[in-house]
Amino acid sequence: MIKVGIITASDKGSRGEREDKSGQVIEEVIAEIEGEVVSYQVVPDEKEVLKAKMLKMVTEDGVDLLLTTGGTGLAPRDVTPDATLELIEREVPGIAEAMRMESLQVTDRAMLSRARAGVIKETLIVNLPGSPKAVQECLEVVIPALPHAVELIK
Ligand code: MTE
Repeated sequence: MIKVGIITASDKGSRGEREDKSGQVIEEVIAEIEGEVVSYQVVPDEKEVLKAKMLKMVTEDGVDLLLTTGGTGLAPRDVTPDATLELIEREVPGIAEAMRMESLQVTDRAMLSRARAGVIKETLIVNLPGSPKAVQECLEVVIPALPHAVELIK
């Protein structure tokens, strides 16, 4: 069983003004690899808040895989990749490259996601874009490789 943490970065979601459909999509897709969600948070697009929540999932909740959704674009408050880069010890560029490459078949806008992926301690962090459609498309690309990735970092 893979312990999964989900963080949705969304100002509106964190204020209860928007239902978090993207988090639900993640939960459905990770069932394919027998992932179990042990921690789930909707947080505002604030770099320090994001870093603190991510670190808590790594150190206290002991998640194997931490999937974030949202805040990967170019808007001033899109800071999820920046928070991720400040936390990870080793980047795994191929994961984000694969998502962007496949997503370009669907939309030119895929190149606008600054998503990152990398390892901190024994946790793999992967950024996903924000819309439920984008989450579904990107996660389906990388999900087959994730169980092995998680195994390797232990
Ligand atoms: N990737 C896929 N597969 N499908 C999409 O619809 N949307 C793009 C991109 N990646 C998209 C995608 C768009 S429109 C943006 S702006 C960026 O992801 C960043 O999205 P975010 O700011 O919600 O993280």
